[in-house]
Amino acid sequence: QVEQMDIIKNSIRSIPGWPIKGVTFRDITTLMQDPDINRKTTDIFFDRYKNMAIDKVVGIDARGFVFGAILAHQLHVGFVPVRKKGKLPYKTISESYSLEYGKDTLEIHEDAIKKGERVIIMDDLIATGGTIGATVKLVEKIGGHIVECAFVVELPDLKGRSRLNGHSIFSIVAFD
Ligand code: PRP
Ligand code: HPA
Repeated sequence: QVEQMDIIKNSIRSIPGWPIKGVTFRDITTLMQDPDINRKTTDIFFDRYKNMAIDKVVGIDARGFVFGAILAHQLHVGFVPVRKKGKLPYKTISESYSLEYGKDTLEIHEDAIKKGERVIIMDDLIATGGTIGATVKLVEKIGGHIVECAFVVELPDLKGRSRLNGHSIFSIVAFD
């Protein structure tokens, strides 16, 4: 299993100084491009959640849609997009948050999750935890029960976990 993690980790491309000086960007497009590694990655999530009576997968705009939609398909449950502001057409609720390099607002359709539904939230990466923190608030405001927040990559130095007190976090690989 350690070997599997190394294969996944080594498939992620690192780009120093992008999008700004001081940030090394972990680029998961190289992971997604490889069909075997992409499947290894998505199977880890499926094996973890297949017997947890999940009702919905929430995917975060934009890279969380890729892994979230695959997991929803594998679990045969509904997929719910959390989107950057102004993209969802029906009644929404919003949360603002700050990023490693910027600021933004996320939205969810207010009827996307029924009260008490068991939810996995999926994103490609957790850095400062601002994005997942805002998403957790959105899901809880409309009554979802968050079983776990799942990521391909975690950047532990940015202490994203500390912004999610009480919520279970799972990531496949970590980069210093
Ligand atoms: C990236 C990444 C996560 C978030 C992590 O998305 O995909 O969603 O940042 O950072 P945080 O833990 O500090 O909040 P980004 O906002 O760049 O959007 P994109 O997926 O549309 O490129
Ligand atoms: N890679 C991808 N997305 C990100 C990163 C990163 O290093 N930091 C914040 N969002």
